[in-house]
Amino acid sequence: MEKKYIAQWSCPSNIALVKYWGKLPNQIPMNPSLSLTLKNSVTTTTVSAQNLNAPFELNYLFHGEHNAAFSKRIQSVLETWQEHFPFLKNGQWRIESENSFPHSAGIASSASAMGALALSLCSIEHEILGTLNTSESFQRKASYLARLASGSAARSIYPGIVSWGTSELVENSSDEYATPLSIDVHPSVLHLNDAILIVDDQPKKVSSSAGHQLMNNHPYRNNRIEQANNNHKSIIECLTSGDFQQFSTIVENEAMSIHSLMMSSTPWYSLLHANTFEIINRIQYFRAQNNIPVCFTLDAGPNVHVIYPPNVKQQVESFIQTELKPFFKKYQPDEMGNGPEQLK
Ligand code: PMV
Repeated sequence: MEKKYIAQWSCPSNIALVKYWGKLPNQIPMNPSLSLTLKNSVTTTTVSAQNLNAPFELNYLFHGEHNAAFSKRIQSVLETWQEHFPFLKNGQWRIESENSFPHSAGIASSASAMGALALSLCSIEHEILGTLNTSESFQRKASYLARLASGSAARSIYPGIVSWGTSELVENSSDEYATPLSIDVHPSVLHLNDAILIVDDQPKKVSSSAGHQLMNNHPYRNNRIEQANNNHKSIIECLTSGDFQQFSTIVENEAMSIHSLMMSSTPWYSLLHANTFEIINRIQYFRAQNNIPVCFTLDAGPNVHVIYPPNVKQQVESFIQTELKPFFKKYQPDEMGNGPEQLK
């Protein structure tokens, strides 16, 4: 009987503090970015393969059900990856995937989904070809492939604070894969929480890919590259010194900058809602009144990520429940986690 290969990985999503916005061909980022790998927002993917000489066939299930749109996307990612996984050209493949967070919760799932898929295929490569024997080569290949599928997914392969993009401040940094930060992070910011407030759970009206594309001819393109490089450098300094005030300034500047770039693109668009502004104004006021280390960031969408260290968890949670609740629909508490996990 033909051997059956099987691998299962869970991979978390990540939230960028310095944003990847704009790219060169082949998913090469226009600027370095830096993110926190989360704990609770994960995708678990099981990949099995058999009859590797048979013509290529894919059976994809999302939460146990056929999903034509996702299946098409996975098929196209696998085609892109064929040159890196020669065994992927043939065989009967079954891929099952599920998210720990509610579907269409407004949480970016492509980072966790593409991360889990890349890791599972690296495990299958290891099983078939006996390659990728060191954790460094394994993670690097997974990060490289995740990047080809969805840029920011490159960072989800590693736990903790992760950088992606060439930077003289990060050892072994590359535009092609992410690198975990090897600096001594100050204990006060070593473990951060991310309270995700879902303001709107509807699909975005403009995709991130379209947003990246609008950066190609953006009048502020060069300034953005310079700004992101400066913010990337400064945030690494804050993580070393534990200066949360400066950290908040940079994180919020990054969030508002990418949304300003969307608004100053041609054609312009905005993904922000009135409730996003209500929440971020209240966070700023709460911080100023109470002198509590808390700040916000935004992905390419209206949802607010409230970032704070664990020692103020009680105050921030109670603030969210009493003052922010009318302005969001769902709440997903998250925090920095230990990175992907191999389950099979
Ligand atoms: O990875 P993409 O192509 O979905 O782009 C992600 C862009 C942001 O989430 C807005 C920023 C980032 O660095 O994650």
